[in-house]
Amino acid sequence: MTTWSRDSWRNKTALQQPRYGDAAALSAVEQSLAAMPPLVFAAEARALHSQLAEVAEGRAFLLQGGDCAESFGDFSANNIRDTFKVLMQMAIVLTYAGRLPVVKVGRMAGQFAKPRSAETEERDAVVLPSYRGDIINSPEFDAAARTPDPQRMLQAYHQSTSTLNLLRAFATGGLADLHQVNQWNLSFLDGNPLRERYQALAHSIQDALAFMEVCGINSDNTPTLRETQLYTSHEALLLNYEEALTRQDHLTSDFYDCSAHMLWIGERTRQLDGAHIEFFRGLKNPVGVKVGPSMTGNELIALIDALNPDNIPGRLTLITRMGADVLAERLPALARRVQQEGRSVVWSCDPMHGNTVKAGNGYKTRSFDRILEEIRHFFAVLRSEQQHPGGIHLEMTGQHVTECTGGAYRLSESDLDKCYQTQCDPRLNADQVLELAFCVADFLRDDGR
Ligand code: PEP
Ligand code: CO
Repeated sequence: MTTWSRDSWRNKTALQQPRYGDAAALSAVEQSLAAMPPLVFAAEARALHSQLAEVAEGRAFLLQGGDCAESFGDFSANNIRDTFKVLMQMAIVLTYAGRLPVVKVGRMAGQFAKPRSAETEERDAVVLPSYRGDIINSPEFDAAARTPDPQRMLQAYHQSTSTLNLLRAFATGGLADLHQVNQWNLSFLDGNPLRERYQALAHSIQDALAFMEVCGINSDNTPTLRETQLYTSHEALLLNYEEALTRQDHLTSDFYDCSAHMLWIGERTRQLDGAHIEFFRGLKNPVGVKVGPSMTGNELIALIDALNPDNIPGRLTLITRMGADVLAERLPALARRVQQEGRSVVWSCDPMHGNTVKAGNGYKTRSFDRILEEIRHFFAVLRSEQQHPGGIHLEMTGQHVTECTGGAYRLSESDLDKCYQTQCDPRLNADQVLELAFCVADFLRDDGR
C-alpha cells in the first residue's frame, strides 16, 4: 500500500467535486484554512471513538441527526438551539425508555457539501452547474450563483465555528441540565398526543432527581446531571476543505480531520479505489460509510478492511440506507457476513435516503410510516443475526416544517406547501422526530433486557 499523506487523495479519482475556475484563488483559500484553528480537538474525537466502541459492543446507542444541508441563509441561534433541544429530548426518551446510554452526534457545524445525481440542471433550455451545497455554490438558478466559489469554504468554516461555539455553550452552560427536561418540551405543538407521554417521562425523571438530591447527588457535585456532550459530524465530501482542516495531533502524531469529530463517506463516493477512501484511511477520527442497496458482501468486507484494517471497535460505523423493503431483503446476508468474518462495526440506520419520493404536487418528501418501517426491519434483522442495532441517522430539524408526511398530525401531501423550507432533502419536524424517538425506545426495550 502506498504511503498516505493529507493530499494523497489527489492521485485518485475524486467524484462529486466542483470545478473551480481559478486555481490560484482556490489555493489561497486552502492556505488560509490550513492556517485557521481546528474546529475540534483530537482528544475529543478520541472520546467519541471510545463511546462508539461501547455502541459497537452493544452497550450504548448512537443518535445522529440534523439538517440534510446546513445553509448560509438559515443560519440563526434559534435554529441551532431548536435542533439542539430536540436532539436532547430524543436522547432523554431513548435513554430513559430504552435504558441505554445515548451517544449524541449532530449533522451540524459543517454539513454543507451535497452530492448530486446530475452534474448540471436544465431549465427552459438553460443549462447550469447543479447546486452542490452552500460551501460550493448558491441554489438560485443563475450563472453567477451556480459558479463554484472557493471563498464559500471560508464562510462555511466561520459559520461552523460559531455553530460549534453555541453548541458547546448549550451543552455545558445549563441548557442541558437534566433538571430542565420539562422546559425542553416547548417544541410540542398544542394538542400533540405525545406531549402527555413526554411530560409523564419528564416527571419520572424529576422524581428520580429529587430522590437523588436527598441522597446528596445534585447538579453542583455531579457534572453529568448538568452537562452533556454533543459531537459534530458531516459528510466529508469536499476534499479540498477537509484536507486543509486535517492536522497532526502533537500528542500522538496521528492525523485527525479537525473539521468535525466524526466524518462519513456518502453512498456516491465510496469507491474502493477512489479519493474519499484514500483520504479517510489516514484519519484517526471515528468514521462512517453509507451502505446502500447495491452493496455486496465482498464489497462490504473490502470496504471495512480499507477503513478499519485493525478491526478497532468504534472506528467504523456502517450507515444502512436502503429503503424499507430492500433493507429487509439485503441486510440479513450483509450482517451475517460481517459476523462470520469477525468484524467489529457500529450498525446505524439512515431510514431517510432510501425512502424519498416525489409527491403529486412535485415536492420531494418521505413518509413517517416508511421511515419507521425501515427502522423496524433494521432492528429485527440485526437482532435475528445476533448483532446490536446500534443507532439511527436522521435528517431532522427542531422547526415545525412540513416536509415529511404522516406522524401524529397525519400530515398529507397537500400540507407540504405550508412550511417546506429544506435546502435539500425533506426533514422530519420536531414533533415527528420525537414520536419516532418513542417508537425506537420501544424497539430498544423489546429485546428483553
Ligand atoms: C446525505 O446523508 O445527505 C446523503 C447524501 O446520503 P447518501 O450518501 O446516503 O445518499
Ligand atoms: Co440528504
